[in-house]
Amino acid sequence: MATIAIVGAGPGLGFSIAKVFGAHGYDVALIARNRSRLDQLVGWLGELEIAAAGYQADIMDRASLVQAFKDIAAGQGPVDVLEFSPAPRGPQAGMVLAGPLDVSVANVQPHIDFYVHGAITATGQVLPDMIERGTGTLLFTTGLSSVVPSPAMGNVGIAGAALRNWVLNLHDSLAGKGVYAAHVPLSLSADEADPETVAPHYWDLHTRGEGAEHLLSGDVLRSAPRTEEA
Ligand SMILES: NC(=O)c1ccc[n+]([C@@H]2O[C@H](COP(=O)([O-])OP(=O)(O)OC[C@H]3O[C@@H](n4cnc5c(N)ncnc54)[C@H](OP(=O)(O)O)[C@@H]3O)[C@@H](O)[C@H]2O)c1
Repeated sequence: MATIAIVGAGPGLGFSIAKVFGAHGYDVALIARNRSRLDQLVGWLGELEIAAAGYQADIMDRASLVQAFKDIAAGQGPVDVLEFSPAPRGPQAGMVLAGPLDVSVANVQPHIDFYVHGAITATGQVLPDMIERGTGTLLFTTGLSSVVPSPAMGNVGIAGAALRNWVLNLHDSLAGKGVYAAHVPLSLSADEADPETVAPHYWDLHTRGEGAEHLLSGDVLRSAPRTEEA
């Protein structure tokens, strides 16, 4: 059975993506910090007859993230799809927002640690095996400020843009290796940001396996995912 690992899996987008891939027969591995919430999500997926397991790890604690992937490999086998979409809610040391005039090394570093180092660490746990097997998908979610500078996101945008830069290069460097990597910036108003509507597009991106970047805007969401039109 194929496995999707979701890094930063909560009740919003992570859970919706889990349901979509689970409905297509995937085993689901959820990675987040809160054990009881992970257990709750695994329970809800179980009610839908989706095989899932939760792995407690903190992206800011690299060793715990590496261990989570070791545990996934042992418990659920190789990861076929990696989806990275942590939402920095709750206690995140130093993860404040700063405008361009207030950007400092101190308020950029945590965002780099979270988005860039987190994504690099997670990818490093699955990519060698994907390349060896000649198959796999890597999807990295950010916000629009990774693509279009937004003054309100002066420091976060630096990290998102760095992650985007790496993923676009990764996409090109994986050409011909059977592994697909893409950056998925979300640009959604509060009304549009329904994870149940967003998640099917991740299945669509995975199955199509084309393009280095897919901006999911309200307009895109209002059109059905292409694989559902077929
Ligand atoms: N308007 C928009 O453009 C828009 C709208 C919605 C979402 N988004 C983006 O979509 C993504 C998902 O958002 P969501 O809220 O729907 O996701 P979600 O799957 O409901 O939650 C993400 C999970 O990330 C986990 N997380 C946070 N910090 C972590 C850490 N240090 N280590 C491990 N896990 C961590 C949290 O769980 P724990 O607390 O248990 O660790 C949280 O529940 C985010 O990147 C968000 O910015 C964008």
